[in-house]
Amino acid sequence: MTDTMLDALRARRSFYQLNKQSPLTEDELIRYVEEVVRLVPDAYDMKSQRAVLALGAQHDRLWDAVYDLFGGKVAREKTDSFKAGVGTVLFFYDRATIERMQRDIPSGADNFPLWALQSNGMLQLALWSGLCAQGYGASLQHYNPVIDERVRELFGVPEEYVLLAQLVFGGIAAHPEPKAEEDISARVKIAR
Ligand SMILES: Cc1cc2nc3c(=O)[nH]c(=O)nc-3n(C[C@H](O)[C@H](O)[C@H](O)COP(=O)(O)O)c2cc1C
Repeated sequence: MTDTMLDALRARRSFYQLNKQSPLTEDELIRYVEEVVRLVPDAYDMKSQRAVLALGAQHDRLWDAVYDLFGGKVAREKTDSFKAGVGTVLFFYDRATIERMQRDIPSGADNFPLWALQSNGMLQLALWSGLCAQGYGASLQHYNPVIDERVRELFGVPEEYVLLAQLVFGGIAAHPEPKAEEDISARVKIAR
C-alpha cells in the first residue's frame, strides 16, 4: 500500500546539520509553501494563519539577530548551524482575525484562540513533513518571544501577528540517529 501521507510523516525528523543545497528551486519552494498554507484548514475557515518565508540574506539576518538578542546565551555555533540552511519559515497567527471572529460569533469566543493554535500546529506539521518529503532537512525552533520585535522590523510583520515558531530547513548535511522502537498501544486505545 502506498501512502504518501505516511511517507511524508516518516521523512520528517529534526535535522540539525543543514547545508545550502536546495532540492527545489526558489520559485518551486515559494509555490510549495504557499500551497501548504492554502490547504491547511482553520476553524470556520477563518484563515488566521500567517507565514513568512525567509530566504537568502533575510534568513541569515534572522539568525544573526537571534544570536545578538540572546547576548551570548545561545552559542554562535548553534545559530550558525541554522544559518547554514536554505531558509526559515516563521509561523504566526493573526490576533486581528481572532478578535473579529470573537465579535462575530460570541459563543465561540473562548475557543478561537485555541483553534488558531491548533490550526498553526497543523500548518507546522504539514510544512515540516512536506519539506522533508521534498528532500529537505528541517527542525522546529522557538526563539519567540525574545525575537518578536526584531522579526517585526526585519520582515515588516504587523503588530497583530503573533509569532509561534520557526522552522529552519536546508539540504541534509547529516541524518539524525534512528528513533527507539515504541509500544504504541501505551498511547493508542482501540475502542470497538
Ligand atoms: C511543539 C514542538 C516544539 C518543539 N520545540 C523545539 C525547539 O524549540 N527546538 C528544537 O530543537 N526542537 C524542538 N522540537 C523538536 C522535538 O524535540 C522533536 O520533534 C522530538 O524530539 C522528536 O524528534 P524528531 O523530530 O527527530 O522525530 C519541538 C517539537 C514540537 C512538536
